[in-house]
Amino acid sequence: MPEPRLGQDGLTRRQILGLGGAFGLLTTTGLATAATLARRPATTGAQLRSTAALPPPHQVPLPIPAVLKPTSTDGTGDHYEIVQRETDAEILPGLTTRLWTYGGTFPGPTIEARRGRGVTVTHRNELPVPTVVHLHGGRTPAAWDGYPTDLVLPATWPQAAAHRMPAMPAMPAMDGAGGGAMADPRAVTSRLTRDYTFPNDQRPTLLWYHDHRMDFTAPAIWRGLAGLHIVRDDAEDALGLPAGPREIPLMIADRAFTADGALTYPSLDPTLRERPGVSEPHLAGVLGDVILVNGAPWPVHETDAARHRLRLLNASNARHYELEARTEDGRRLDLVQIGSDQGLLTTPVTHRSLPLAPAERHDLVVDFATAPVGSLVRLVNRLGTGRTRDVMAFRITRRPAADDSRIPPTLSTDLPDWHRQDAVRTRDFAFRAGRTNGGHGWLIGGRPFDPARTDVTVPLGDTEIWRLVADVHHPVHLHLVGFRILSRAGRPPLPHDAGLKDTVSLRPGESVEIITRFDGYRGRYLFHCHNAEHEDMGMMANLEVV
Ligand code: C2O
Ligand code: CU
Ligand code: CU
Repeated sequence: MPEPRLGQDGLTRRQILGLGGAFGLLTTTGLATAATLARRPATTGAQLRSTAALPPPHQVPLPIPAVLKPTSTDGTGDHYEIVQRETDAEILPGLTTRLWTYGGTFPGPTIEARRGRGVTVTHRNELPVPTVVHLHGGRTPAAWDGYPTDLVLPATWPQAAAHRMPAMPAMPAMDGAGGGAMADPRAVTSRLTRDYTFPNDQRPTLLWYHDHRMDFTAPAIWRGLAGLHIVRDDAEDALGLPAGPREIPLMIADRAFTADGALTYPSLDPTLRERPGVSEPHLAGVLGDVILVNGAPWPVHETDAARHRLRLLNASNARHYELEARTEDGRRLDLVQIGSDQGLLTTPVTHRSLPLAPAERHDLVVDFATAPVGSLVRLVNRLGTGRTRDVMAFRITRRPAADDSRIPPTLSTDLPDWHRQDAVRTRDFAFRAGRTNGGHGWLIGGRPFDPARTDVTVPLGDTEIWRLVADVHHPVHLHLVGFRILSRAGRPPLPHDAGLKDTVSLRPGESVEIITRFDGYRGRYLFHCHNAEHEDMGMMANLEVV
């Protein structure tokens, strides 16, 4: 009997995965959920309830992820090693949480890179399941971009099973290098360790690396597989922006905990080995009721009454934020945006509140000069309710003798300036809930992700406009390229859409036009929704640059 080939013979991937039954029952509720969500724009999923004792806000000190030291460095670049392993950490005071980590910490260690200087990271997998490393926002050759089936196998993975993807029909192993139910034998390559090379040949910005395994990205990130990667260059260093202890990366992520401190997540298969997916109430996304910043719950950071550069990343699976900085006397401090996903803006943009969708980054300068010594400046989320309104706080402990940082009126001059008339074609993509043959799914253009199907083929160097339309909130991310936002709902982009983006938040019912030039590298890349649950449930597609 011939093996089924993905995307052929009318079979969907979900059917091949054997999920028809489980998801089929849920179709009606799944679509009802989507309709309900469209009416409640702040809701992107169902919130888990922690049973652990939670600390009061603003007591746990803000951790700053350690900067990773290279294991070697030479004329061509820096070499790093990261072991992916389980760790027990104290996230909630007095309780122990089992995490999946890069190098034993959550967030993982920060990689500090210089523009144009290559970094190679050897990842070794000591976790119980295969993993994939993706550098989000990186301009990375396809071989190192972390395609969802380019696995790093753990040594403990049963060798008999190592040659097929879990829960997929067996196929003959391909010369011991990998295998699986892929139509394309090149689609799976697997090793115990894997070297990822990142050229860092791109505008300086805050990137992040995270897991990207097919069907299991959301729970793996939830367990802790996320870290920061910062690209810098001399031009940015010379701007005089707040630096040193006054430049602070903030990875925001929500989680939920059981009474004994374990992370809660509604996986259908908690081993993350066989059956992907989450239980029915969470099909729209998994939200936690504890807000972590750099891995600490509602932390506090003691600092001085000066300008600070806050480098925000929303590493939550599904939660959106709309952030404000509030003083104790009820004022909202200016959030001066100096950069977005893909680096510095041309000129600063001042906001009072700032939305942050999953995977988006904002580079901000906030001046604490007017906050009294001894007071708190709270970072709050206007979209939260109850305890999820709090994010973190800064406690102002002293007034500095001087603050010699500045925000120059011109931040950068190299932002790509693509015009409509540069585009050689326009494509349309609908991001919607829908039924697959098997039941509920999150689809792009009516289809769930299929690693064997090329959805988009773009000649290297072409400029295109993509029109993206959404049913509910979908933060849409393109690998390889940065893009500019041309319009939202037929109107000019919003103030926070400025700059070069790699993730754009589509709001319910909204159509957004983006423009980009597909340059850099040829090869197979992805675009997908970065609501991590949607991504795992099919909302991802292949982009081939040829
Ligand atoms: Cu954050 Cu496909 O990535
Ligand atoms: Cu990415
Ligand atoms: Cu989505």
